[in-house]
Amino acid sequence: MNERGVVRPPGDKSISHRVLMMAALARGKSELTGLLTGDDVKSTARVLRQLGVRISQIRDDGPVAVTGGRLTAHGARLHCGNSGTTARLMLGILAGQRFAATLTGDASLRRRPMRRVTEPLRTMGARIEERGDTLPLTIRGGRLRGLEYKSPVASAQVKSALLFAGLTGKVPVTIREPYRSRDHTERLLAHLGLGIHERAGAIVFEPPNRRTALPPFQLSVPGDASSAAFLVAAAILADKGELIIENVGVNPTRIGYLVVLERMGAHVERVNMRDEGGEPVADLVVRPASLTGTEVTAGEIPTLVDEVPVLAILASRARGATVFREVGELRVKESNRLELVAANLRAVGARAEARGNDLHVEGGEQAPRGRVDTASDHRLAMAFAVLGTVAGADVRLSEKKSVAISYPNFFRDLRQCCA
Ligand code: S3P
Repeated sequence: MNERGVVRPPGDKSISHRVLMMAALARGKSELTGLLTGDDVKSTARVLRQLGVRISQIRDDGPVAVTGGRLTAHGARLHCGNSGTTARLMLGILAGQRFAATLTGDASLRRRPMRRVTEPLRTMGARIEERGDTLPLTIRGGRLRGLEYKSPVASAQVKSALLFAGLTGKVPVTIREPYRSRDHTERLLAHLGLGIHERAGAIVFEPPNRRTALPPFQLSVPGDASSAAFLVAAAILADKGELIIENVGVNPTRIGYLVVLERMGAHVERVNMRDEGGEPVADLVVRPASLTGTEVTAGEIPTLVDEVPVLAILASRARGATVFREVGELRVKESNRLELVAANLRAVGARAEARGNDLHVEGGEQAPRGRVDTASDHRLAMAFAVLGTVAGADVRLSEKKSVAISYPNFFRDLRQCCA
């Protein structure tokens, strides 16, 4: 690594989806800066445009204008690409619209479970036709009932879909989750002054009434903590230098990986703390460290759910064993991440195994060498690319294109900071 590298991760993917959707529902012209230009966010923009929302081109230099208000019906299918967040949150938005729409996605998305969202939306009164648990499906929204829901999974996508249904259907929603998942939707609603609070551990949303239009807004999206995690990992594995990662969202529901890394022996400093659109933001300072294995508990998983692949890579370079408890949800991400992280670590000579819903990784010092199957999953590609920066490594990826989903300039940034 360079003596002192400086890098900026792309805009936060979760927040980019949410602000685009919220701006689409606001009557008038909103202005968004720092949006992620990755394919998933473009899928959300495409779907919203199909529903009559005007959205200027999403590019790295300059703000994006969104002119929203009323969504309108259309004949075509809404294609959500690879994006689970687009599909699930749009179902919530469509639940409050009085027209029918059909959602579909790519082969990976068509394998992912949707009943976790369609079931509570049906309880609210949405009519949803589906053949099984998966896309494609047709939703016909309309007059909804309020909902009190105890979610069986700690999923921000489920929670956000229901909050959006409450917003578009103008009905109250109360949600409990087994563990707190990322709270970007709640923060955005609070930032816009829209009647969200917490009561006895539940999230309670009382939306504005029928006559109140959502006002347009201006908002700047912070850098993505999950994308930053790959750079953090590369800087920890380097043999010298210091990396500054600027403008990273440090929402506590997203940075469980920094807590785990601290326990493993890597201290990542947060400097220049500030607030951006209701989200805490900081610059991260990272230095190389020797790591020790740890146990990551079930309660921690929602705060680092997308970082298990990269933490597993780091665990394979640590002293001793690491176990990730209750990570069964990883089976239904963009790929079967639980099995593929373990199989790919073994493919490069490390020891790792999925036992039931736990992931076990044994640390070691041998240089990783072998071919990795990314299954077109962006986070697997980036995690194993980071492992490939270790001295003496020869890690070959089955493909690299998938990084465009969440971090289009990943390889450029990795080269620049860890050359
Ligand atoms: C996301 C929530 C998480 C995460 C996904 C993005 C979101 O999924 O894995 O990458 O933006 O709400 P779950 O909430 O289903 O765990």
